[in-house]
This record gives sequence, C-alpha cells and structure tokens, in this order.
Amino acid sequence: MLQNLEDLKNEFSTALNEVKDQSSLVNLKADFLGKKGKLNNILKSLKDATPEVRKTLGMKSNQLKETILADIEKKMTALELFEINERLKKNWQDITYRSSLRDQGLTAAGYHPVTIIQREIEDIFTSMGFEILDGPHIENEYYNFEALNIPDTHPARDMQDTFWFKDMKHLLRTHTSCIQARGMEKRTPPFKFIGPGKVFRCEATDASHEAAFHQLEGMMVGKDISVANLIYFMKTLLSEIFRKEVNVRLRPGFFPFVEPGFELDIECLICGGSGCSVCKQSGWVELLPCGMVHPNVLRHGNVNPDEYNGFAFGLGLDRLVMMRYGIDDIRHLHSGNLSFVSQFKTF
Ligand code: PHE
Repeated sequence: MLQNLEDLKNEFSTALNEVKDQSSLVNLKADFLGKKGKLNNILKSLKDATPEVRKTLGMKSNQLKETILADIEKKMTALELFEINERLKKNWQDITYRSSLRDQGLTAAGYHPVTIIQREIEDIFTSMGFEILDGPHIENEYYNFEALNIPDTHPARDMQDTFWFKDMKHLLRTHTSCIQARGMEKRTPPFKFIGPGKVFRCEATDASHEAAFHQLEGMMVGKDISVANLIYFMKTLLSEIFRKEVNVRLRPGFFPFVEPGFELDIECLICGGSGCSVCKQSGWVELLPCGMVHPNVLRHGNVNPDEYNGFAFGLGLDRLVMMRYGIDDIRHLHSGNLSFVSQFKTF
C-alpha cells in the first residue's frame, strides 16, 4: 500500500509536468484529489487494513495530499503569470513608435487649438525669463478669494458664479489668479511667472460662454515696476501672437486684486481700427484685464508693498483661439469632436 502511495506521487509529478494550461490543471486536481480521485481510491482500500497500518498510511496519504495541493497552487500561479505575459506579448503595441500608428492608418493626431496657443504663449514668456506655474483646479476659498483681496461680500463669491463643494470651503477655481496667490508665497522678489489652466464658472452656456474655459495668468513683482512695464510686456506678447505690431490702449477696469485695474484693448485686427462688425464699429477689441498688484495681495503673499510692487494680467485663451482660427462658437472647444480638433496641427 505504501508503494501505491509512492507510485501515485510519481504519477502526479509526471502528470503535473505535462500540464500546460489552467483548465488541465483543474482536471488534474480532480483526478488525484477528487471524491472519485486516485488518492481516495487508495484510501478506500484502507478499510480492511490493521489499525497500525491505517494510522501510518492515513498520515502518509494526508502528507501526499498536502504536497499535491501545494504543487498545484504553485503551478497555478506560474500558469496565471505565464498566460498574462503571453497576452501582453500578443497585444503589445508600442504607441510611442509613431510609424507603427501610421501603419494602422492613425494619421490624424494633433494638438487641441487651446494647447497650441498655450504653448506658443509659454514659449514667448519663457524667452523673457518667466517661470511657468501650475495650480489645482479644486481650490479653497482662501486662494481663490481671500488672498486676492476679494471680501466675503463681493459678488464674485456669489453662488451663481462659483461651483462650490458641499463643505462650502472648496470650489472649482473661478480664475487662474489663485496661481498668483500660491506662486507669491513660495518666492522672494524679484520674480515673474505665468500660470495657464482651466477655470470654471457656473454660468449658462452660449456661443461665447462656457462653464469651463482657459486663462493664462501672469505676474511680475520687483522694485519700481510701472504701468509702462505692463504695457511693454503685453504689447510684446500680442505682437508675437498675432505676428504683427499691434496697438493697445488701457481703460480703467475694476478687479479687487489690482489697483489701478485696467481693461486692455487691441486695435481691431480685422479692420485696422476703422470700424467693422467684429469691433462693433469702435475700432477696438477688449482683450485682457490687468493692473498693478494690490498691496493687500502682496501682503498675503508675504511681500512687503512698501518695498516691492508689480503687475498682473489674466489672458482668456479661448477668445484668442477663436480670433486666431475664426471659430464662431466656444462650445466647439470642449465638444470632443475629432473632426473639429483634427483640423489644427498634426505632428
Ligand atoms: N482674474 C480675473 C478674471 O478672471 C482677471 C485678472 C487677472 C484681472 C489679473 C486682473 C489681473 O476675471
């Protein structure tokens, strides 16, 4: 009988070696350890044996059962791993290898027009020594409002404009100016940076309004910064973007975080200033709000307003994209429509 167990053990090892997939392994297990399996068959014949023989054989067969179980488990893990690797090998695609995508007929990759404009502007500003900063979409009340000198009572905090979270402490940032507040905290003047990104407002959408859109914030802080510096940087930026000399003008504008605050207009690029439907016959198109950083904002950023000052601006990227490419509805930008985005730049 002991010999029978020994034979069974060898038979199992040979059979196990031949198993190549998970389902055969399950069958093998049933074959050896199942109710009508080989081990049970041997055990059945034990009933006629003497108590001593039964005891040792019982022990031995239990040991064998444990060994078989452990071997099966080990093999199962190895087979699983093998099958995963095989599947990976079969389905592997090197998506970084562009010509392989081209081989599959996927030729229409390109950047979203907002990305194109954003990268262009980033290049212009980095060439002038600006850093590029990022910030979270989910902000708290402090960085979106308080640090920017927007008091509790200001209409910008209104429920209608802001997507608040249930805790009423967090919100989806309504502007990229939060990046100013965060950027200042970690720097000592002089510094200059831009912060592009998505912003969110709880508004009805139409051809020129979206609940999610894109801004690019800019800030420069140092000694004796003036409105002339602001105008210089804005003119340089706009001339680069529109690839020609542009005329700008400043009108007073109110934003709690700048003083004085301005609306910067550019001379209409369509009619050259003589008046057309785009500029509503005025010759000027409103382009970006800006101003000199409010002393309270500097204080929140640990900058001493008696020693330093600066300018800030907030450029709306969607409008620029629409002007550049002649897009008449802002909603195209988030449509996810491939035939829309594939019109722009391919790799
Ligand atoms: N954060 C303002 C807005 O979203 C724009 C702005 C930025 C104005 C910087 C002045 C200076 O409307």
